[in-house]
Amino acid sequence: MSLLQAATEVRENAWVPYSRFKVGAAVRGASGAIYRGCNVENAAYPEGTCAEAGAIAAMVAAGETRLTEVLVIADCPAPVPPCGGCRQKLAEFGQPETPVTLCTTDGQSLTTTIGALLPGAFTPAHMDRT
Ligand code: THU
Repeated sequence: MSLLQAATEVRENAWVPYSRFKVGAAVRGASGAIYRGCNVENAAYPEGTCAEAGAIAAMVAAGETRLTEVLVIADCPAPVPPCGGCRQKLAEFGQPETPVTLCTTDGQSLTTTIGALLPGAFTPAHMDRT
């Protein structure tokens, strides 16, 4: 299965009674396995979670901590950009050169990288004084 297929399928399960904006995400772990997530909203709005966060949580729960590829899909006018928090979450488990493909359900896509999405990311190195 491709990342596009995985993200497209899981997007259908998004719980979005408030925004009505379904997002699907798929990440490939270093093992080659694919993990997926969808956005899960909540009546207490800030408690909602993004699709990317769900996919990352699935990867970590499966015992993987490195991702090599990311794809996100939504029904929007242009390839859906990950929110700021998700850019930081992706940076935690990927590399600056890790490809991120942003898609629309009508077939547009844009491939960028984690480094381009979050230049100057805060990393563990910034806590190192020795
Ligand atoms: N959302 C995601 O899941 N990922 C993104 O990259 C952009 C935004 C979700 C959060 C919320 O459920 C809905 O889209 C509208 O912001």
